[in-house]
Amino acid sequence: MLKKIAFAVAVSASAGAYAADNVEVLHWWTSGGEAAALNVLKDDLSGNGVTWQDMPVAGGGGEGAMTVLRARVTANNAPTAAQMLGFDIQDWGAQGSAADLNSVAQAENWDAVVPSALQRFSKYDGQWIAAPVNVHSTNWVWANKKIFDELGLAMPLNFDQLIDALDAIKAAGYTAFAHGGQAWQDATVFDSVVLSTGGVDFYRQSMIDLDAEALGSDTMKTVFERMGKLASYVDDNFSGRDWNLASAMVINNEAGIQIMGDWAKGEFLNAGKVPGQDFMCFRFPGTAGAVTFNSDQFVMFKVGDDRQKAQGEMAKAVLSPGFQSAFNVVKGSVPARTDVSDADFDDCGKKGMRDLADANANGTLLGSMAHGHAAPAAVKNAVYDVVTAHFNGEYSAEDAVAELVAAVSDAQ
Ligand code: GAL
Repeated sequence: MLKKIAFAVAVSASAGAYAADNVEVLHWWTSGGEAAALNVLKDDLSGNGVTWQDMPVAGGGGEGAMTVLRARVTANNAPTAAQMLGFDIQDWGAQGSAADLNSVAQAENWDAVVPSALQRFSKYDGQWIAAPVNVHSTNWVWANKKIFDELGLAMPLNFDQLIDALDAIKAAGYTAFAHGGQAWQDATVFDSVVLSTGGVDFYRQSMIDLDAEALGSDTMKTVFERMGKLASYVDDNFSGRDWNLASAMVINNEAGIQIMGDWAKGEFLNAGKVPGQDFMCFRFPGTAGAVTFNSDQFVMFKVGDDRQKAQGEMAKAVLSPGFQSAFNVVKGSVPARTDVSDADFDDCGKKGMRDLADANANGTLLGSMAHGHAAPAAVKNAVYDVVTAHFNGEYSAEDAVAELVAAVSDAQ
């Protein structure tokens, strides 16, 4: 009997300690490369005495994760933190269940080191509610070096050169364009094609200002024609494929290129591939000098007093300079602070950091539509629907333009 009581006391004491030091984190980092990056965070936190309770919800772009999050908060069971993008963060700020991170932010001087393009999303009503962990960008191409060398292909500098390269790769019997037919992946390609076809001003007018004239323009028709052209280079099994399996096709010498954000680099690195040797990274042809960015941030939710310490530790750890370097080297992204050295980054990462700083200085840093940094979720989802229906042959380019104008207008 005594033994039993002692056991019960021990269990409840350790359960209490577990809850206090525990962070439950909702995220969509389920691929090999993403899991490797997440391990950097878990290890960092465990070094600070914080244990990790995993709440993964698969699906790039985070649509599935956001659905689960809404259910959790509605059930009064919010996680400690949730991975989130851009405008979604603002929605949770307005909703009122996000925690106040101002004291950590002040102690750690976040105002001075986090780029204003990110702070615009991390703060709601002047209050820090999220800790940015990285900056990704979507206007990248990931190319198989062996195939490019074998076919004597140079890095394409404009859309026509890209098509020439894809023709050559296809003629040699490879899948030219490794792609996964999921709405968010189609939209990720769309980010690049809009920017390449219309330039920075057009991207801003159509994707960020949601200007009806730009959305309905001849330039947008060309965008859809180009999307249709790219769709002719995917393989027969592209529909529904996960993005990391498309990366694997390039990694395994089955396909020439993938058009994807720099989380793809995490897959190449995780497979032991070396940039410049096994694969190449370059900006989507015609978009050099501009960056369509997205930043993963951890929104912290209001939790009981007992869990606030661990939550604060997590917020602090996420933005510490050492962690920002270690994590982003593995993830494929670049740091969310301006004062981190690029010494540990590979050539693609160094280029990513340079490009981000230049774009920020030159006014060519643009929020990614596909990844929630150009417009609120309702508009983003409307764009997804039109882009994906067109990519799958349901609309002509002309019809897609008309559908886009109507869908964006309805969604506002
Ligand atoms: C993005 C996210 C990246 C990456 C990608 C694929 O939305 O910002 O970190 O995880 O989805 O899952």
